[in-house]
Amino acid sequence: MALDQQALGNFWSREQWLKELEDPQRLSVGRWNHERSELLSLASGWLVAGELQVMLVAVQPAQQRQGLGRQVLQALLEQAQQLGCHLATLEVAASNKAAINLYGALGFISCGQRSGYYRNGEDALLKCLDLKQIQARTVNRPE
Ligand SMILES: CC(C)(COP(=O)(O)OP(=O)(O)OC[C@H]1O[C@@H](n2cnc3c(N)ncnc32)[C@H](O)[C@@H]1OP(=O)(O)O)[C@@H](O)C(=O)NCCC(=O)NCCS
Repeated sequence: MALDQQALGNFWSREQWLKELEDPQRLSVGRWNHERSELLSLASGWLVAGELQVMLVAVQPAQQRQGLGRQVLQALLEQAQQLGCHLATLEVAASNKAAINLYGALGFISCGQRSGYYRNGEDALLKCLDLKQIQARTVNRPE
């Protein structure tokens, strides 16, 4: 809940979070700081008909730009690929340059747009990634 509040501005309620973490059709990967007993980063998605719908990626504001976002999202994509998903999709606000760059760095490409999708009237950009690329990257990763 603290990570949601600080990085996402209360994206989900407590009930929604419990559902996300318990539902077998949901997938989440996070990095926990044992010393401070806090969640540093989290990536979550829904497994739907062989696809991963990435719902969120969040990193504690004080920990951003240290590679944690890339790490959890990459791990989420790899897990989804291992579970048989072939495609990852997501929506991102057109003004969220940090997230757009992160998704681009992991190979997501633009595959559409929803005009005025968000409550504030902002457009959503649709991004997708063929998860075979993840397998290739994992197999070819240097020791
Ligand atoms: C988006 C977010 C998850 C990125 O996490 P992060 O740990 O800071 O990102 P990383 O350090 O792993 O960066 C990976 C790449 O993302 C891009 N990036 C990350 N932060 C960026 C920023 N502030 N500006 C521009 N590009 C950025 C860069 O391409 C970066 O690669 P580089 O460091 O080699 O340049 C983080 O900014 C965040 O939690 N934002 C608030 C929540 C949010 O908007 N989530 C996405 C929608 S749910």
